[in-house]
Amino acid sequence: MKSWNGAPLFNLYDVVATTMPQNNPGSLKRREYLDLITYILSLNDMPTGSEELPATPEALKKIVIKWRTKP
Ligand code: HEM
Repeated sequence: MKSWNGAPLFNLYDVVATTMPQNNPGSLKRREYLDLITYILSLNDMPTGSEELPATPEALKKIVIKWRTKP
């Protein structure tokens, strides 16, 4: 996640949704990609919100990834 510091969450979504899985890119539904990204964020100790990640590109562009080192 460190290399994504400062990037909008949309950028990570875009890379994953257009290049993953490597043997069948774009094959998952938007919500499935978002759920996987949510899981990756949680594994990286990113703060959680009270709602699901929004699905629109506009909303994802407003969320900025902020890397923080583990305590
Ligand atoms: C839907 C399932 C998958 C998800 C959500 C996923 C997610 C990701 C993410 C988040 C990255 C790191 C991107 C970055 O930080 O730049 C990545 C990289 C990578 N993934 Fe996947 N992945 C999936 C399936 C797969 C599969 C099935 C393969 C192999 C057949 C694969 C091969 C790779 C490779 C080789 C990289 C490194 C690519 C690079 O650095 O350019 N992924 N993946």
